[in-house]
Amino acid sequence: MSKSDFGLIGLAVMGQNLVLNVESRGFQVSVYNRTTSVMSDWVAKHPDKKIVGEVTLEGFVESLASPRKIMIMVKAGGPVDKVIESLIPLLDEGDIIIDGGNSLYTDTERRDKWLGDLGFRFIGAGVSGGEEGARKGPSIMPGGPVSTWDVMKPIFESISAKVDGEPCVTHIGTGGAGHYVKMIHNGIEYGDMQLICEAYSIFKKAGFTPAELAKVFTDWNDGDLESYLIQITAKIFEQKDPETGGALVDMVLDTAGQKGTGRWTLINAVENAVVISTINAAVEARILSSMKDKRVEASKFLKGPEVEISTEKAELVKKVHDALFASKIISYAQGLDLIATMGAEKDWGLDLGQIAAIWRGGCIIRARFLNDITDAYRKDPELSNLMLAPFFTGLLNEFQQNWREVVSIASLAGIPVPAFSASLGYYDSYRSAVLPANLLQSQRDFFGAHTYERTDKPRGEFFHTEWPEVIG
Ligand code: 6PG
Repeated sequence: MSKSDFGLIGLAVMGQNLVLNVESRGFQVSVYNRTTSVMSDWVAKHPDKKIVGEVTLEGFVESLASPRKIMIMVKAGGPVDKVIESLIPLLDEGDIIIDGGNSLYTDTERRDKWLGDLGFRFIGAGVSGGEEGARKGPSIMPGGPVSTWDVMKPIFESISAKVDGEPCVTHIGTGGAGHYVKMIHNGIEYGDMQLICEAYSIFKKAGFTPAELAKVFTDWNDGDLESYLIQITAKIFEQKDPETGGALVDMVLDTAGQKGTGRWTLINAVENAVVISTINAAVEARILSSMKDKRVEASKFLKGPEVEISTEKAELVKKVHDALFASKIISYAQGLDLIATMGAEKDWGLDLGQIAAIWRGGCIIRARFLNDITDAYRKDPELSNLMLAPFFTGLLNEFQQNWREVVSIASLAGIPVPAFSASLGYYDSYRSAVLPANLLQSQRDFFGAHTYERTDKPRGEFFHTEWPEVIG
């Protein structure tokens, strides 16, 4: 039998779908799975495909054409290291290992060095799009050396999603850049999802039925908010629960799970002193949602307002649209700011326009407005903040009034909208030429002689005042 063009280890759902995708583009694929029966049962279901199931890792490695291209699709963390360790004695110099899971980028950097020192090539590649994306065309964010990208490019380009004929894959940067950008993609995904949930929460309080909600989101998906997450949200509202006959969404328990990429994004933002308050609010909203028992208990004691939402429904839809869109712009502005900051710090040579371009298709955050983000960065690669691209400045100026009204409607009705408000707080802080930090600096100088700069003196000159003594 001829040798395979590509190998994949880990036949969980994403792995299976990626294999079918690669095979469908004309490549022969070898597969290996730790539990052999999973592999053999699955391979047996696809007798007409160029898929070679291997029972041993030795046989799997042997079945691949040189240089071997082996993609690992196993749980992030220890399992990735275990697979790599068992592959090392079987590989030849120049063979390529691709980790397609949601690995922490620092692990990817460690593996990049580890394998590079041994003469192998390693790519940490973020793969987004869930099952369907993996099967039909994901967005792929590979890191690692350019020379390795050059070898993988034909396969990656043929399996990725396409937008306007452009493949949704690009060489992100060296080392851990690919997994890093996928991590921020996920942080942005958290932000998008939470903002949609806050819009839903306001509509629910205003008495919208699931059918009305489905209509709102379907209409939005036909307009400037068009995106995968808005589209699936409309479908979710249409889904009936077979047991009760009501909307399924009403039967789903309100406790959100998370696997870690959102939390990693926050940690990285704090380390880089970049504000990502929308994503922060989204991660914390998941944490608060998971504290179900505590919330139920607190709801018996802590009062909220007795206010109904009186805004007429069509008007509310327009206002919430504006608040959602404006907040979404802020979330992307923050995520991209973090990517730019970290990219400069690591000297990854990141191209933000190209990153936005490969997010336009295949991935979970794909959205019409990523075309505008791509344009903004292609016009001005040095853009200091997405809010300041003329197109987005125009939108924010247009939406800001309704955005405020939505935050205030929600607040007066006692509806938590942490991501809407955090986004608005960022917008108002960023556009403020003057902030109350003059008082803060005075306080720091008062209790700790930390000094301050003066408004009437050049920057960089520091002053201290002998403040009055405080007794007691
Ligand atoms: C994607 C998704 C995918 C997955 C994440 C998020 O881009 O295809 O981001 O990677 O959904 O693991 O998972 P959590 O919501 O569980 O953190």
